[in-house]
Amino acid sequence: MQTCQILGSGHAVPERILTNADLEQMVDTNDEWIVERSGIRQRHIAEPGSSLSDLASAAVNRALKRADTRAEDIDLIIVGTVTGDMKFPAMACLLQEKIGAKKAAAFDISAACSGFLYGLHLARSLMQTCPYQRVLVVAAEMLSSMVNWEDRNTCVLFGDGAGAVVLGPAEGECGILSTTIHSDGHYSKLLYNPAGSQHVLSAEDIASNYATINMQGREVFRHAVASMTGALNEALVQAGLRAADLDFVIPHQANLRIIEAIAKRFKVPHEKLIVNVERFGNTSAASIPIALDEALQNGTINKGDVVGLTTFGAGLTWAASIIRI
Ligand code: UT7
Repeated sequence: MQTCQILGSGHAVPERILTNADLEQMVDTNDEWIVERSGIRQRHIAEPGSSLSDLASAAVNRALKRADTRAEDIDLIIVGTVTGDMKFPAMACLLQEKIGAKKAAAFDISAACSGFLYGLHLARSLMQTCPYQRVLVVAAEMLSSMVNWEDRNTCVLFGDGAGAVVLGPAEGECGILSTTIHSDGHYSKLLYNPAGSQHVLSAEDIASNYATINMQGREVFRHAVASMTGALNEALVQAGLRAADLDFVIPHQANLRIIEAIAKRFKVPHEKLIVNVERFGNTSAASIPIALDEALQNGTINKGDVVGLTTFGAGLTWAASIIRI
């Protein structure tokens, strides 16, 4: 059932670009390996000490403008992030203050790279049961703040960024046609950051990069392809559509090989696949709304197009959605 549609979108990334050549100076890696294994050529990295809620505000203000919506009219703000400005309060509350969305309820969700599609799922469900007219779904990450810059297995993969959509009631054929979300905590140790209440950080922990991203890349890769394929299939069935009905597919931008594996499973030709991982790296929850916004702004995706979104991340979590723009 379509209850809501995307009225406008926006994204923002930090100015500073870190290229593969820059990384060659930092760890034992090279451009050829990074491009061949991940497809990534550069990523945007925030200046240390900068605020993710500022970056998210920039994305949201663009989305509000395109949706012709005033911040004061927003009823609800959902932010997907695992790298909010502070442990608490929620980044959604900091964002609410920065954009001036005075009447909105605001909260964060922690679903790692699946944060945006978890947010869409929640927003869609809440718009069915609550009298919300305008909902902001935001996904913003500054993974550079928790990357171990001495670990070549992970530091070459991630970038910072933010994306946002404004949702309003569906009109006509347009809208979010389906959403599906899943989790499996059994695999939590495949991708995690151990910093938390169970282990109060000492000076030695900080010096030894304890509180950073740990990942078993090859295992994560395997789960990613299977989960993203399964979720997209499920979202298609819910929407009563087949893969051939999709005008575009936007997979989570983690690795070009994962994206191509998904495209192969669904027989998605090159021109229907939205890819920007080479320029942004893996921006976690922000990757899908950044790619969606770019494709909308450059005219690749247009009104009436049916788009399949599918993602995967730490948790493990995975999710998919079908939307008609
Ligand atoms: O958002 C969801 C989160 N994450 C993901 O989706 C990531 C999923 N996984 C991946 O994208 C891939 O597994 C990676 C890109 C992380 C790694 O590619 P891979 O083909 O699975 O490589 P590997 O981990 O099996 O490593 C192969 C070799 C190893 O050397 P040995 O043991 O074969 O001698 C690594 O030490 O490549 C080495 N290696 C590197 N070499 C140069 C690992 N990182 C690097 C590097 N530069 N940056």
